[in-house]
Amino acid sequence: MKAVILAGGSGTRLYPCTELINKHLLPIYNKPMLYYPISLAMLLKIKEIVFVLNPGDEEVFKKIFIRLKRLGLNPDFVIQEKPRGLADALLKAEPYVKNSTIFLLLGDNLLYGHDLINVLAEAKKEVEENGGATVFGYYVHDPHRFGIVEFDRAGKVLSIEEKPKNPKSHYAAIGIYFLDSKALEFAKRVKPSHRGELEITSVLEQYLQQGILRVKLLGRGFAWFDAGTHDSFLEAGEFVATIERKTGLMIACLEEIAYRNGWINKEELLELAEPLKKTAYGKYLKRIAEEKFYAL
Ligand code: TTP
Repeated sequence: MKAVILAGGSGTRLYPCTELINKHLLPIYNKPMLYYPISLAMLLKIKEIVFVLNPGDEEVFKKIFIRLKRLGLNPDFVIQEKPRGLADALLKAEPYVKNSTIFLLLGDNLLYGHDLINVLAEAKKEVEENGGATVFGYYVHDPHRFGIVEFDRAGKVLSIEEKPKNPKSHYAAIGIYFLDSKALEFAKRVKPSHRGELEITSVLEQYLQQGILRVKLLGRGFAWFDAGTHDSFLEAGEFVATIERKTGLMIACLEEIAYRNGWINKEELLELAEPLKKTAYGKYLKRIAEEKFYAL
């Protein structure tokens, strides 16, 4: 499985900040927004990640890629000339993910919760072994703002709709999807929606029509943020700060994950920590490198 992380888009809901800088480079508390989706791919031991970028963002992202390569990853990028929607962005990655299963992540989504990795690993395995697609349903109080998934008591998906006027459920399909290779074929058939975008829900609808769309519900033990508005951006940062202070462990610390995955050794972790030594982030890396017992 390969990961595709969408880091293009226009970011209009975060103007004026995102008139100056790509949204995904803004810090959610102590690390760039982009680290959060990258961490999920790394926790699933996926090393091949392709980023979909806006034209002109290559240079700054190259700096992140250098760091990712030091962590044992194999990052690459493609350019989406215009933000024509998530299905269009996925299609841009076709040369990299053709004939592969895909872990598609929106670059501005943050997901945290107990046993999250096992939940994701199970979905990954299911798509790898049985094909189809798996989405994650998260309860929201304002369903008209999201892609909404409806399902029956047995968990069978009945419908999926983008920003519905009359929502059929309160479960949003969050920006993390496991897809088999048919996704590209489906994406090519998608027509622009009334807002002029090639919607990912139109890809998922085709999975549904073929009876191969699954939903996994993320219950009360999970926190999901789409950090794309001023309020949700702040809220996500406050959440990360609170959890990290309370547990003494970091969320989405890529160097730590690479170390625990065995992709870098203690010396390499300490080298990565050195330029950050004045920060709590750098001190944390040093602590991880020197700890005798692994935290859970
Ligand atoms: P959105 O948040 O739906 O759109 P946006 O980032 O353009 O922001 P706004 O609505 O404020 O204008 O996008 C979800 C994620 O997908 C986000 O991380 C950006 C990315 N994206 C692309 O890479 N290409 C696209 O064509 C679109 C629409 C989004």
